[in-house]
Amino acid sequence: MDEKQLVSQALSAALDGALGVDQIAAIIEKPKSSDLGDLAFPAFQLAKTLRKAPQAIAAELAEKIDASGFEKVVAVGPYVNFFLDKNATASGVIHEILTTGEHYGDENIGAGGNVPIDMSAPNIAKPFSIGHLRSTVIGDSIAKIYEKLGYQPIKINHLGDWGKQFGLLITAYKKYGDEATITANPIDELLKLYVQINAEAKEDPAVDEEGREWFLKMEQGDEEALRIWKWFSDVSLIEFNRIYGKLGVTFDHFMGESFYSDKMDAIVEDLENKNLLHESKGALIVDLEKYNLNPALIKKTDGATLYITRDLATAVYRKNTFNFVKSLYVVGGEQTNHFKQLKAVLKEAGYDWSDDMVHVPFGMVTQGGKKFSTRKGHVVKLEMALDEAVERAEKQIDEKNPNLANKEEVAKQVGVGAVKFYDLKTDRNNGYDFDLDEMVSFEGETGPYVQYAHARIQSILRKANRPVNLDNLELKISDAEAWEIVKYLKDFPTIVKRAADNYEPSVIAKYAISLAQAFNKYYAHVRVLEDNAELDSRLALISATATVLKEALRLLGVAAPENM
Ligand code: ARG
Repeated sequence: MDEKQLVSQALSAALDGALGVDQIAAIIEKPKSSDLGDLAFPAFQLAKTLRKAPQAIAAELAEKIDASGFEKVVAVGPYVNFFLDKNATASGVIHEILTTGEHYGDENIGAGGNVPIDMSAPNIAKPFSIGHLRSTVIGDSIAKIYEKLGYQPIKINHLGDWGKQFGLLITAYKKYGDEATITANPIDELLKLYVQINAEAKEDPAVDEEGREWFLKMEQGDEEALRIWKWFSDVSLIEFNRIYGKLGVTFDHFMGESFYSDKMDAIVEDLENKNLLHESKGALIVDLEKYNLNPALIKKTDGATLYITRDLATAVYRKNTFNFVKSLYVVGGEQTNHFKQLKAVLKEAGYDWSDDMVHVPFGMVTQGGKKFSTRKGHVVKLEMALDEAVERAEKQIDEKNPNLANKEEVAKQVGVGAVKFYDLKTDRNNGYDFDLDEMVSFEGETGPYVQYAHARIQSILRKANRPVNLDNLELKISDAEAWEIVKYLKDFPTIVKRAADNYEPSVIAKYAISLAQAFNKYYAHVRVLEDNAELDSRLALISATATVLKEALRLLGVAAPENM
């Protein structure tokens, strides 16, 4: 039973049912300082009904309560403070962690329900931006968190590989492109073409028109148009896959926008049959005034489809194919309006499952306080940033542990892990500044800090060279710092659920930092290996801590090296 439950039941019994267990559980607090116990019940609410001062109520309750399951129960002013039985609590949680290992905190809340996660989704022929990195890293973590809770995540890379911009790009390629140059350096060269042709199209309507026509040809299945487009896509994917390899992220499906090119007619017809399509200046729109949204533009005058047309087909396809319980879209906050419109159109068409579609937005990343831009040729060399992170990690390892055997591998885990962790510890909706020095630092609230705490525990356990035997162990928690750790360990399952409910990996990242800090405090006060009387309790405690740190990092897609 969890301790809130324990406390609420004891209180409800002492109150002769004046308040129900659930009512009590809702008002129980965690005291600010652990001197005041582990849980506290404020007696204010009872003052009216019982016509007594809260202080008096608290005092009476503390007297009357059956305190046998606790270390002690005392009244302090208007509060009843509960001190949990430390040894019993620790014994329960540490046993559970050491017997279930990485499965500690697993649940079957999802009952195997499918959760497609739309993530990463870079645009072919364009650089992989920092926003795509965020989507990749956040989506991957959410997938792991949902899987832990018994859902079946389906990671889908909804590549941006369809639209008028590819028509323009074909125009540019025909005018200036050179196959060999592009093959050698595809993203850079295609971006150059893209920037150039967009500038031209702005000046010269004929160029714009040509791009429009090429896209129309693509949509009509023109062989040449599709051959060039497919080539752009293939060379781009080679580059993207290299980044995914470095990040260690995989996908269940690569289904880009082009996948829906033959699936849009159905939804457009459907909207038409439901009388939702209206003509406006020659284009077809769905009016969304009652949702307080601008009309959704579904088809252009020339019949060309748009981003939202593809997303409509995508949503329907995912419902039909996966019969999802939830459908997540990890896409930057600047597309909030798009997803509102998307859901509203589906709602208008009577698809109530659109309520299960969730846009999971995130904030913008800056560098030196400035926005990253990819369109104007300020290419974000994301891959270079990742490589640089690994190099810096290696430098630090060289200083700390020059003889480390698998230095290169650990440097990758630390460097890449640092970038991911920094991203994930930020509240999703906030942005952050991309500062490699800070990310890779072993001090502060960073990935390497957490990894280092884990590696340190592993090294203590190796030194102890003594298996943690739970069978006859009477666990003893005699240090305040140890008790702090136990409370964090006990919290982990709740933390995982909170992260899932809010689609917020930062809840887990922040937790991992706190747990690592609690361990470091403990380690600064307690010579784990020196006091033999409690050696086994201490080894069990730190071993459980390492297990949970590692699992928390895993949920963030960050490795936990044994040595660093
Ligand atoms: N390719 C888009 C972009 O880079 C993101 C696509 C997000 N997913 C979606 N289903 N709309 O902005």
